Amino acid sequence: MEHLSEVVKILEAALRHDPRKAADYASLLVSKLEDEKQGRQANAIRTVLAKTPAPTFASTGVATAPPRDQDSQLDTVDVLNPDRAPEEIVLHPYVAGTVQDFLMAVRSHERWLAEGIATASRLLIYGPPGTGKTSIARKIAYDLGLPLITTRSDTLVSSLLGQTSRNIRQVFEFADRNPCVLFLDEFDALGKDRTDSREIGELQRVVIALLQNIDAMSPSTVLIAATNHESLLDPAVWRRFENTLKVDLPNPVERQEIWKQKLGRFAPSPKDLEVLVRFSEGLSGAAIQTAAFDMARTTMLEGHEQIVLTSAMRRLARIKWYDRYHVFDSVQTEILALRQWAPTVFSIRALAELFGVSARQVSNAIKGEALNGTGTSDSFTSEPTPGSTA
Ligand SMILES: Nc1ncnc2c1ncn2[C@@H]1O[C@H](COP(=O)(O)OP(=O)(O)OP(=O)(O)O)[C@@H](O)[C@H]1O
Ligand SMILES: [Mg+2]
Repeated sequence: MEHLSEVVKILEAALRHDPRKAADYASLLVSKLEDEKQGRQANAIRTVLAKTPAPTFASTGVATAPPRDQDSQLDTVDVLNPDRAPEEIVLHPYVAGTVQDFLMAVRSHERWLAEGIATASRLLIYGPPGTGKTSIARKIAYDLGLPLITTRSDTLVSSLLGQTSRNIRQVFEFADRNPCVLFLDEFDALGKDRTDSREIGELQRVVIALLQNIDAMSPSTVLIAATNHESLLDPAVWRRFENTLKVDLPNPVERQEIWKQKLGRFAPSPKDLEVLVRFSEGLSGAAIQTAAFDMARTTMLEGHEQIVLTSAMRRLARIKWYDRYHVFDSVQTEILALRQWAPTVFSIRALAELFGVSARQVSNAIKGEALNGTGTSDSFTSEPTPGSTA
């Protein structure tokens, strides 16, 4: 039977005397039938809905107010409706393939259900910061035509003892009432290993609450979780996710695509682009985006059509070494660092032009002598090690 999961949800809601949930799932079924050009069936359901109006998800967005933390009185979730396509992200073919497989599994949920094969629609995404995990969750919800309900770990984790578990329960109840993708972002903030000795008592309760809520979830509700710290996750939490997806830092092919996408019309020649690709090794998509936007702004301000490689590489260095950039306390240290990092890009002439100093001053800076009035040779004692940070 097609659309069995919607029918099951509608039945479940009717038996629990929850007309709003029944109406929401009926509306979802109407849109699916319309997509499939089953106009007559869609109309039949629409007529029933029109006769017994209930506040539906489709007409009002999420029909009930999102849950709140009792202490801070702030919402514990954000709701993103699927009305606008999320930005495109560049994905490794394996990642893109896994996302497609997951979408297919969710869409064919009815078929599995009819066959009596229990499948749950749960995906755990993990990998370093800024690699597109949140963007992938947005894309999945958008492709499924469902709102994305994202937990806000800052408000979900309450200062009140016991309130975090209550907040979690309310979020799951909210997700169960609304057709949606529930997204537990920064999952490690909740699903930490119970043997982590730091905050045992409350943490154990939180993880137990999480496990109970996941187990009680209807298998047709799509659940996605994302974390940067998969090693902190409790093994029992891991086991609840039958689909896992590791996203890595972008490889050269992906970096090239990301640079092109983010620089847009400011993208340089293929040769210069190759340099950016090479020297952005170890950076995440998010870091490349920050660098690219920064470069585009500078290019526009300086009145150029395309990025100027030396200036762009100087910006890139700042992003790459952001945590140690304070050591560039003088032009001299910066010149030296850039020269050591990318000698082919930063010739003496290029550096002189970039910093508005003479070639001799650049040569002196490289030899470790102070530039007139711009620094002291002491600053070389805190010389950075270019390229060592991500
Ligand atoms: N592979 C990519 N292609 C294009 N853009 C990317 C890519 N990875 C990240 N970005 C951009 O970087 C920004 C941050 O990405 P996102 O929030 O999805 O990363 P994340 O893995 O969830 O990060 P965090 O671990 O910090 O939560 C987004 O605006 C996204 O467009
Ligand atoms: Mg994220």
